[in-house]
Amino acid sequence: MHIGIIMDGNGRWAANKGFPRSFGHRKGAKQVSEIIKSCPKLGVKTLTLYAFSTENWNRAAHEVSSLMRLFRGYLQTKYLEIIRNNIKVTFLGDTNPLPNDILMQMKNLEKDTALNDGFYLNIALNYGGRDEIVRSTKKIVRDVLSKKIKTNEINEDLFESYLDTSNQKNPDLIIRTAGEKRLSNFLLWQTTYSELFFSDKMWPDFSPNCLAEAIENFNLRVRKFGKEKQRIKKPVSF
Ligand code: IPE
Ligand code: IPE
Ligand code: MG
Repeated sequence: MHIGIIMDGNGRWAANKGFPRSFGHRKGAKQVSEIIKSCPKLGVKTLTLYAFSTENWNRAAHEVSSLMRLFRGYLQTKYLEIIRNNIKVTFLGDTNPLPNDILMQMKNLEKDTALNDGFYLNIALNYGGRDEIVRSTKKIVRDVLSKKIKTNEINEDLFESYLDTSNQKNPDLIIRTAGEKRLSNFLLWQTTYSELFFSDKMWPDFSPNCLAEAIENFNLRVRKFGKEKQRIKKPVSF
């Protein structure tokens, strides 16, 4: 099962307690580790975390740099733990505008975990769903022009293989915290048939128990993918 999480509400969590927003982000990063640890027990095989959107650059410069510092520190301190736990890390998003040293950390982590298969962790960093679709389109055009593929070979499967999530299953469930009910440019292509779950908890308060509740709720749902209600028995053939 693949779950995507829009981790929202760090700023409000901190403000409600009279702390600066950066403190909320730090607490949010701690919560990320708790949630990752709980995933295997809950039957989650892939987790995609929305860490920084293409629109988040529009925040105050000091908040953006405190987030970059946090990513840098997180990748450094968790490096060995991730490798030891057989986690494969993939970054989603446009890496170009990120600071060089963070980019190197990301590349090394992807390379050093490429063969891991215990758990799949996608981190969406400078990610935007529209940006991903535009970047994929450019790659397809490049391959058409260089005659690697033909225009009439372009279909949904081929397009999907050019996305940052190529070769991955689409998310079954998307969770958003902090009471907001929107996607904010998260996985626009991949969420076509994902179930959505909204929690009022701020991200730093979203515990493994809250994740378990979201999964329980998901398990009660009937997914139809455009068909009539799922049949229990196979249809009679004539
Ligand atoms: C989510 O928390 C973290 C990021 C977007 C990086 P916010 O920082 O959006 O928290 P609120 O929504 O302002 O409370
Ligand atoms: C979405 O949260 C992005 C991440 C969680 C990284 P935002 O807080 O940026 O989204 P909006 O601005 O409320 O839509
Ligand atoms: Mg927010």
